[in-house]
Amino acid sequence: MSIRIDSAPRVAASSNSQWCIDMGPKRIRACGTPRRAGAGTVRPMQLQGKHILLGMSGGIACYKVAELVRLLGKAGATVQVVMSEGAEAFITPVTMQALSNHRVVTSQWDALEPNNMAHINLSRQADLMLIAPASADMIAKLAQGRADEVLSLTALARPIERCPLLIAPAMNREMWAHPATQRNLAQVQADGARVLGVGTGDQACGEVGDGRMLEAAELLDEVIAHFQPKLLAGKSLLITAGPTFEPIDPVRGITNLSSGKMGFAIARAAAEAGAKVTLVAGPVHLPTPRHVRRIDVQTARQMFDAVMPEVAAHDVFVATAAVADWRPIHASAHKIKKDVSREGKGANATFELTENPDILAAVGHLPSAPLCIGFAAESEKLAEHARAKLVRKKAALIVGNIGPATFGRDDNALLLVDAEGEREIPHNDKLSLARELVREIAKKLQ
Ligand code: C5P
Repeated sequence: MSIRIDSAPRVAASSNSQWCIDMGPKRIRACGTPRRAGAGTVRPMQLQGKHILLGMSGGIACYKVAELVRLLGKAGATVQVVMSEGAEAFITPVTMQALSNHRVVTSQWDALEPNNMAHINLSRQADLMLIAPASADMIAKLAQGRADEVLSLTALARPIERCPLLIAPAMNREMWAHPATQRNLAQVQADGARVLGVGTGDQACGEVGDGRMLEAAELLDEVIAHFQPKLLAGKSLLITAGPTFEPIDPVRGITNLSSGKMGFAIARAAAEAGAKVTLVAGPVHLPTPRHVRRIDVQTARQMFDAVMPEVAAHDVFVATAAVADWRPIHASAHKIKKDVSREGKGANATFELTENPDILAAVGHLPSAPLCIGFAAESEKLAEHARAKLVRKKAALIVGNIGPATFGRDDNALLLVDAEGEREIPHNDKLSLARELVREIAKKLQ
């Protein structure tokens, strides 16, 4: 295959796999070209109807919780804040009340409660208790089952089965690493709480290390994930996502408009459902979903080389990547210069392309292939093309969508095509579609 570059835009293909892409200087999208912003974004109220009991103990990370309360509220949750005396030293109950729109509980001797038992009433209404920040002292109290102030008392008084406890620790790195803290964390986990882990970096004390509280957006994701059914617990998924980039020279390449959003949404939905997830990502500007292991690649061959050794360790392979079918046989070591002597007179450049490996087909044809899910981005005859791919790539399911209608967007509509038939998943945001796909994968794994 060869590509010829002329100054006049023109596209042609011939049967002997010779392509001519004739273009002006900006016709092939190269690295760094802005992608289309997601239009028509659907933002679901993911915590609608959920009642979160938010306990705050003392720590500079209290400032992050102000933002967290806003995010939880925007996601549809009702938030009831309980503050320890230590928390009040860092942020006022007035601030937390204004943000949560609820009276903040700061004392176990709260006479405004009709039965004077705030510690009992609070957890009876809650779907989840989150302690953020959880100081080393608060974690020690929880480990011992102490009840000498309102927050540890409320945590102890909650019905363990109905109102699970999430803990977001925040402390200095030495306090975090101390055997006493680690022992206490092990104890609270043994008692059924989930410890959300900590971040690494600059600390308020000037030191650098582990112990920072997770960011507000990360905590929001953890709360949302908590409420997702664990349909893929014990399973592992390998996912490809995004475009690939095939270099022509050091500054240009062949790529496509895939944003990676669908693949990243599936990775997030699978991790929320309890799966171990490995995400092999082409060049995209998306944050890694929590608890997902990410391998970054650029070209189709790098994606192939990253996927193949991982296959045996995974139960499911989901190929969402828009892998370039072709790559230049020889990428020029130096920038290809235009012929200035022929400028404006129809200058040409020609270079040859060769086929890239088909990753999904390679995995699908392995003797002990995992459950394989592929995507088909088409512009017409969706069901027909999807069914052809199902057979050709030996996939268990092909997810069809209209390519131009999905690339770069936050929403989509899907057509599931498998041996049993076809089923439409109506238009929705990509995370909701991904959760629907997770349900489908769970069914197929049964
Ligand atoms: O053949 P086509 O590119 O239309 O097939 C799309 C499906 O195959 C997607 O699931 C895509 O991730 C996968 N694919 C692949 N390797 C390629 C080309 C496509 O894994 N080289």
